[in-house]
Amino acid sequence: MDQLHVSNHPLVRHKVTLLRDSQTESRQFRELVREITILLAYEATRDLALTPTQVQTPLALAEGAELTENIGLVPILRAGLGMVNGIWELIPQAEVWHIGLYRDERTLKPVEYYNKLPERSTVQVVLVLDPMLATGGSAVATVNILKRWGAGRIKYMGILGAPEGVAALSSAHPDVEIYLAALDKHLTPEPQQPGDPPKGFIVPGLGDAGDRQFGTG
Ligand code: PRP
Repeated sequence: MDQLHVSNHPLVRHKVTLLRDSQTESRQFRELVREITILLAYEATRDLALTPTQVQTPLALAEGAELTENIGLVPILRAGLGMVNGIWELIPQAEVWHIGLYRDERTLKPVEYYNKLPERSTVQVVLVLDPMLATGGSAVATVNILKRWGAGRIKYMGILGAPEGVAALSSAHPDVEIYLAALDKHLTPEPQQPGDPPKGFIVPGLGDAGDRQFGTG
């Protein structure tokens, strides 16, 4: 699948391993999310448009380049919030627009609860941020919202993806490039007995990315 980019960078693989570890506590978990996001952003921003410019160094005039397009970061609340600061360090001028969705535990369908996008799009490139691409419902709903808004090019950046989520996002939005740190095996099924994990979690995964970042698990 051409639109799927799964990092095989050694730093990403090392950090994802730490992120998955159930012993990793919230503070380190947040740092890892930030660091992995920076590494993924390097790839996801590879085709940003540039305008030639010149800059005066202490010695001479040098040819240079500056980013041409307005870039928007769209974290999906809550878990996507932890991916914002890393990219902001790379692209401090990026606009951040929040979309609030939570997944109904029974139906696994996304429920929208926050959206303050202005009437018209203000950005040409959007990076949708959410660490977990499980069924893909949240990602598809967010891209639907952004396309209605008139966002230009849209890319999805996640940390872990399930095959089910990748298939859902790529079939609904074949134009959206998907950047992941790892592609996992499958989603948990309907629980059969007490103690089974809830359905729709990525396996092997890392648990609940929102709870682990915000200490609410
Ligand atoms: C999780 C995750 C994604 C979504 C993924 O969020 O952060 O947003 O579920 O699932 P999907 O691909 O099946 O839609 P959750 O609803 O737990 O909310 P939270 O970020 O507030 O914890």
